[in-house]
Amino acid sequence: MKSFFTSKSNDLKRVVALLSKGEIVAVPTETVYGLAANIFHEDAIAQLFKVKNRPFSDPLIVHIHSLEQLQSIAYIPETLHALSDKFWPGPLTIILQKKPSISDKITANKNTVAVRMPSHPLLREILQTGDLALAAPSANPFGYISPTTANHVYESFGNKVPYILDGGKAEFGLESTVLNLTSDVPTILRPGPITKKEINEILNCTVHDNAENSNSSSNNEISPGLLPQHYSPNTKLILFKGIRDLEAKWEKSTGKKIAVFLKPSSESMTFRSKNLCVLLSPAGNIKEAGAETFSILRQLDQQDLSTIFFEESSDNGIGIAINDRLSRAANQT
Ligand code: TXA
Ligand code: MG
Repeated sequence: MKSFFTSKSNDLKRVVALLSKGEIVAVPTETVYGLAANIFHEDAIAQLFKVKNRPFSDPLIVHIHSLEQLQSIAYIPETLHALSDKFWPGPLTIILQKKPSISDKITANKNTVAVRMPSHPLLREILQTGDLALAAPSANPFGYISPTTANHVYESFGNKVPYILDGGKAEFGLESTVLNLTSDVPTILRPGPITKKEINEILNCTVHDNAENSNSSSNNEISPGLLPQHYSPNTKLILFKGIRDLEAKWEKSTGKKIAVFLKPSSESMTFRSKNLCVLLSPAGNIKEAGAETFSILRQLDQQDLSTIFFEESSDNGIGIAINDRLSRAANQT
């Protein structure tokens, strides 16, 4: 069965019907595509793990359309309101204490649950029309590059997913920021499009982030899915900082290779003139570079290259999220 559908209202109705009766559906979000299941259908939740080949120890994010809905899912602390007023709907996931109605399969037996209110208009319409709450991990096989188009989902899963709703190219192309509000100090577990600085400003305190605690032995316990290796292409991936670093690494490697630059620079001209490179954002825009990162990794992974060289971003704003994904992707075993 062919899995693509357009955004006509009939299709949305069909998606709502499928999700309501416990089927899984791939849906667009503003971050990356998700593989969605109704949180009250245990079999559908189990199916998400099976299709993705994801371990049950890695908990899922619940996607909601309203704060009223959240009341039956989690205990709501005062601090949540300032964050939801500012960032929801949008790419911020918040970890809260869970309520008993939430399945242990979703939370990997933890007493917390991850929640976010996505902003993609098609997904919002599905959530609202069906009054649904959807558990949705990124729609990639576990460990592989996250999907930013409906086509990426189809390439990975084909007909294993009965329905893929095409909502266009993902706006951010990087997964949501994950913020833990159940720790003593609010802590960023996964950097994303909403930055630490923006959250600091709203909470009026200094939030911690996972990287700062990476030596802590309890780190894996805090967010089991944030593995050192993830998002990886099959092709060897080497990161570089600046043209000198690239030249040194380039010389040492053999075979067909390509360099990915985030933005144009006069220094990269040699590579550009020889057609040995890809430019993520010709306009030098970091949001655009972030939106293209996973997509270009997928594209290059299909080109029979021996090595992909990828430029690291400067470590601020969305660049932190880009570097986080790249460093995990390059951590190939
Ligand atoms: O942008 C996104 O968040 C996308 C779209 C589809 O919404 N979803 C996504 O889901 O990235 P996933 O499953 O690929 O990543 C969820 C991350 C994992 O690292 C998981 O371990 C963490 O969130 N997580 C989920 N529940 C948690 C919890 N209760 N405590 C700590 N970490 C949790
Ligand atoms: Mg994922």
